[in-house]
Amino acid sequence: MAQRALILYYSQFDNTARLASQIHKLTGADILRIKVAPGTFPDDMRATDDVYQKQRQTNRLPTLTTKLPQLSYYDVILVGGPVWDGQISSPIMALLNQLQGYQGKVAPFSSGWSDTGNYQRDFVAHAGKLTVLPGYHVLTHGKPAFSLASLMSWLRQV
Ligand SMILES: Cc1cc2nc3c(=O)[nH]c(=O)nc-3n(C[C@H](O)[C@H](O)[C@H](O)COP(=O)(O)O)c2cc1C
Repeated sequence: MAQRALILYYSQFDNTARLASQIHKLTGADILRIKVAPGTFPDDMRATDDVYQKQRQTNRLPTLTTKLPQLSYYDVILVGGPVWDGQISSPIMALLNQLQGYQGKVAPFSSGWSDTGNYQRDFVAHAGKLTVLPGYHVLTHGKPAFSLASLMSWLRQV
């Protein structure tokens, strides 16, 4: 990845954080964790899903408390997040709104439990005019699982 790259990621339970950290170590890209206001999501998957479903139904997305750097400096932004209901999480929806107008490329990566569902398609559907590259999607309890070889192969393409 011979470009100026930025890693932006949201992670509730640190799985995506670990993946983001691996990418950071391999690439040396700048990295920033996207956060939401404390109390936005309960500390429980099922209860988080209730909040998430309401957010999607009403399009009331969570407020991000992280200030983004000057994006025009970067050629590519790697956007990481967890799979929620086979889709992108609401913080990533909010982040994609904030990225509108960015002229470079955007490459998603995700961590899920056992089924990535429609993550890439949902990401593209919420990406507006952003140019979206094929993503890297791995599962902690299913296949495709994380491997250094598959991650390196993806990084060579973005
Ligand atoms: C609301 C919610 C919905 C989820 N839906 C899915 C799903 O559809 N498929 C899946 O494989 N994992 C699902 N998971 C599990 C997470 O994607 C998985 O544990 C992920 O690695 C969590 O990433 P994080 O630690 O960065 O938050 C869901 C988790 C939550 C909280």
